Amino acid sequence: MSAPDPFEIYLVATPGLEAPLCAEALAAGFTGARMVEGGVAFSGHWPDVWRANLDLRGTTRVLARIGSFRAMHLAQLDKRARKLDWAAMLRPDVPVKVEASCKRSRIYHAGAAAQRVATAIAEELGAPIAEDADLRVMVRIEDDLVTISLDTSGASLHKRGFKEGVAKAPMRETMAAMFLAQCGYDGSQSVLDPMCGSGTFVIEAAEIALGLKPGRTRSFAFEHLPGFDRAAWDTMRAAAPLRATDLRFFGSDRDAGAIRMAQENAERAGVSDYVRFTQQSIETLEPPECPPGLIIANPPYGTRIGNKAPLLGLYRSMGNVIRAKFAAWKVGIVTTDKDLARATGLGLQLVEPTVLHGGLRVGLWKSSD
Ligand SMILES: C[S@@+](CC[C@H](N)C(=O)[O-])C[C@H]1O[C@@H](n2cnc3c(N)ncnc32)[C@H](O)[C@@H]1O
Repeated sequence: MSAPDPFEIYLVATPGLEAPLCAEALAAGFTGARMVEGGVAFSGHWPDVWRANLDLRGTTRVLARIGSFRAMHLAQLDKRARKLDWAAMLRPDVPVKVEASCKRSRIYHAGAAAQRVATAIAEELGAPIAEDADLRVMVRIEDDLVTISLDTSGASLHKRGFKEGVAKAPMRETMAAMFLAQCGYDGSQSVLDPMCGSGTFVIEAAEIALGLKPGRTRSFAFEHLPGFDRAAWDTMRAAAPLRATDLRFFGSDRDAGAIRMAQENAERAGVSDYVRFTQQSIETLEPPECPPGLIIANPPYGTRIGNKAPLLGLYRSMGNVIRAKFAAWKVGIVTTDKDLARATGLGLQLVEPTVLHGGLRVGLWKSSD
């Protein structure tokens, strides 16, 4: 029997974090991974899809490209969609929902396009179409070219599966991991976040050092596709022994509730023996007893004009503490505003491009290497 043909696997990136995601995919052995608009693409097979979901820290979701054809009008879309081998890609007993987008195409009505593909699936395969289905078929029509993909992840991959406690303005795990990577973090140093909120940077850093896979405890949409091999997946996912480390990871925050949540999140993630969270204001922060590592934070940033003055004071204090007590540590600060970053007085450099998150452009400002 000949091996099945490879297909295109597409990793959705947080806008602005395509380059570190591509570097992560290449380092993880996804040969041929290249940056494309909005993400990273490479060619592979279903076990590569599973492993990308399981191992990659920076992707929001993993899409499998399952079909592509030209369509100039809805009747053509209908006819060509019906010709796809749906039975090879979806199960007749698993509900799906269909979403579509159209750009620079003669078919311009996304709702009607989604409807045609949904009807093709329902009538050719018999799978139920349901708005609240966990499995999503995505139809993209661009320059009259229709690309059909399956969202193999399900819930966004920043949901690692352990974070129940979320503080104010939490950082997404996917973004935190890419900012750590852009600071050169490779799991061989301690990390300290002095405004840690729910502990995202600290827990990500500990997991990286311990060799814990980000998707180890969650479920994925691909488990409901035909050809999914539970035994092979269990073997792939089987916990590798923790990498031995003497490193410790530190988080502090002035808010007691945030510290409680961070601690609980660390316990659920299985890293609580390696992290230490303390309720403390940045102004009184002291270096932990360990060799210098990376200090990284996303301090509060204002979205309204008028609340900048107190924030400038906060960033200035943070800069003073780091200069006085953490001189040998590397620094990464995630913020929306160059005046705030500059108020630290740490001579931090902005990593380009900035990152679009929640309608804001946030940037990583880091010390020189
Ligand atoms: C944007 S949130 C950080 C979110 C965090 N990265 C997460 O993933 O949950 C900023 C945090 O800074 C903390 N904070 C504000 N001023 C502080 C200060 N002077 N000292 C210590 N923490 C402070 C807030 O309590 C808040 O949790």
